[in-house]
Amino acid sequence: MRFFIDTANLEQIAEANALGILDGVTTNPSLMAKEDIKGEAAIKQHYIDICNIVTGDVSAEVLSTDFESMVAEGKELASLHRQIVVKVPCTKDGIRAVKYFTDMGIRTNCTLVFSLGQALLAAKAGATYVSPFVGRLDDISSNGVELVSHIVTTYRYYGYETQVLAASIRSVQHIIQCLEVGADVVTSPLSSILGLLNHPLTDKGLDIFIKAASNMTK
Ligand code: E4P
Repeated sequence: MRFFIDTANLEQIAEANALGILDGVTTNPSLMAKEDIKGEAAIKQHYIDICNIVTGDVSAEVLSTDFESMVAEGKELASLHRQIVVKVPCTKDGIRAVKYFTDMGIRTNCTLVFSLGQALLAAKAGATYVSPFVGRLDDISSNGVELVSHIVTTYRYYGYETQVLAASIRSVQHIIQCLEVGADVVTSPLSSILGLLNHPLTDKGLDIFIKAASNMTK
């Protein structure tokens, strides 16, 4: 399973990248807005800065909602850097845009996916990634991991090449559950990635080893 970080914060991306386990980055308009980036030139530069930190794919989302504007915007984003994957919402115009980009050889991440039907359309349109939103489904008392599992099983049965990128991850448990159901990629905040390290027995064991080591060198 590949690991992406879900943030537009350069320090957090660099921190995760320094661990040596990072395979890519996902951003969205809300995450970009948090970084207080102002203006088109600054937005573009920020995506380039992210690409210069990591070696893997970087999802950059279109801000427009109609087909023509999405296509124009997506082409510009894709031309910024070879690592850019154009992120497109799973709407009627969005699916049309994904198919257009697929035919042009531009890689896409079909986002805001909440059902198997939407995931089917994303795969048929040739999306590189499909992003089911786990946490937001859980928020409305649905089961996000179950959707990831259904998409993985169905894609494998039919041989679709679209990779399942589990998004809207809120916890370490979500990461583990998505790993267990076979997600190709999980994108999560830095806190959840670092949370994977936590175990009280590791802390306790390390304390014991440190004490033993200091006794030996006394
Ligand atoms: C997906 O790529 C989105 O950027 C993200 O995972 C959404 O997460 P949220 O539901 O925590 O906003």
